Amino acid sequence: PATATKSEARAEFVVVANRLPVDLDRAEDGTRRWTQSPGGLVSALEPFLRSRKGAWVGWPGVPDVEVDEFSDDGLVLHPVTLTSTDVRDYYEGFSNATLWPLYHDVVARPIFDRGWWESYVRVNRRFAEASAAVAGEGATVWVQDYQLQLVPSMLRELRPDLRIGFFLHIPFPPVELFMQMPWRAEIVRGLIGADLVGFHRPGGAQNFLWLARQLIGLEPSRGSVGVRSRPGMVQVGDRTVRVGAFPISIDAAGLDSLARTKAVADRAAQVRSDLGNPETILLGVDRLDYTKGIDLRLQAFHELLQEGRVKPENVTFVQLATPSRERVEHYQRMRGEIEQMVGRINGEFARVGHPVVHYLHQSVNRTELAAFFSAADVMVVTPLRDGMNLVCKEYVACRHDLGGALVLSEFAGAAAELSSAFLVNPHDLDGVKNALEQAITLDPAEGRRRMRALRRQVLTHDVDRWARSFLEALGSETAA
Ligand code: ADP
Ligand code: F6P
Repeated sequence: PATATKSEARAEFVVVANRLPVDLDRAEDGTRRWTQSPGGLVSALEPFLRSRKGAWVGWPGVPDVEVDEFSDDGLVLHPVTLTSTDVRDYYEGFSNATLWPLYHDVVARPIFDRGWWESYVRVNRRFAEASAAVAGEGATVWVQDYQLQLVPSMLRELRPDLRIGFFLHIPFPPVELFMQMPWRAEIVRGLIGADLVGFHRPGGAQNFLWLARQLIGLEPSRGSVGVRSRPGMVQVGDRTVRVGAFPISIDAAGLDSLARTKAVADRAAQVRSDLGNPETILLGVDRLDYTKGIDLRLQAFHELLQEGRVKPENVTFVQLATPSRERVEHYQRMRGEIEQMVGRINGEFARVGHPVVHYLHQSVNRTELAAFFSAADVMVVTPLRDGMNLVCKEYVACRHDLGGALVLSEFAGAAAELSSAFLVNPHDLDGVKNALEQAITLDPAEGRRRMRALRRQVLTHDVDRWARSFLEALGSETAA
């Protein structure tokens, strides 16, 4: 329930992200409602920020609407308006057709368009100005993700009194790939305006430090960066900028308790029965994104069926896919390909009333998601590249019964923490097929051993720990 506010009070702690944690949804009959925004950034930050009563600056998710500041359960939301042209050039263009593929190992070809870049600069300035207006004297402002890499420097110019953190939720690419970017020095200069620049992995931090030397002639420290420790340092005039690694996580205790409720257990049993009580349920849960390797896992499953290594009457694949960035060409093409594969597999192996692949191009609520995780015998997470991937951690947090098995790509940031998963190279189709088969036929005692180890990691490294470690390194009072 959102209420409009007109508070003059300025916030001590401000999150700035491309999206607000809620999206404005306009139904066909003209009514409006707020729904949770898609993606891992919001899943991770929203519960944390609610407990801190901070402010959030972001876009309400639809173009050309002016929305007043409003408060939602203690959180003050400051909408930034984007026009249709901004959405096309800054969001769909530079953010999602240039930066997104470039930072994800160029698994799709990035487009370098000067008009998009100009829009990116303009919109970043708008976010910087909105944040400067919201933040109180000496406040901490935490800027999020690749859409807003210029905000730290722009905001510092407007408000030198602020403590500014920046966290990148996606991978930071190898330097050879980053060097393709025509505006590479501008981006490094934008980020260096922060007091602390955070990445998921030490490799990302290391790459950034190298670029700061090569592209803008700074003299970064030379030691290796640790996980939540030994940040790199760069002196920029009289400021010391820290550069560190802070692997993000989930509200693990919250999901663990949700998964233990009767509502979730009952719904999980219902899901299994609706699927026709197969021996094994395989599950994929992703935004429909070409980096997630949804096509690869379907191909692996298809070949296992064709080779008779899994039987269609015993095994069912459920793929939940949240609609995402639907006007960007690569996304449209990939959606067509995936839906064709689903049709082909079902065409060959389904029986009347019993599809072997259930594909839902929909977002589901938290309880429903926890039920799917609880019902799934094998969770299949096969991105070609992923900054972290929260879905695999959510699955583990839901398995208090120590059931289930996780097949996880080596190229997800989470692989460094979840070594008891079945780790796969998603480019190696035979390897993925072998891992799926091993997970399907897993000895229950071995499965419990693996799940216990995964849970130990996820439950002790939750999103609160991530945020606290970042804010402590930033020297923010909010960490207390
Ligand atoms: P990304 O940030 O790239 O989308 P993550 O795995 O880090 O990837 O985070 C995705 C988030 O979106 C998770 O919290 C996951 O539960 C949620 N999610 C993904 N698909 C769905 C879906 N179909 N319905 C509901 N939530 C989903
Ligand atoms: O880091 C993952 C992320 O790209 C977020 O920045 C973003 O908010 C989310 O996924 C969902 O993507 P979008 O906002 O483009 O729908």
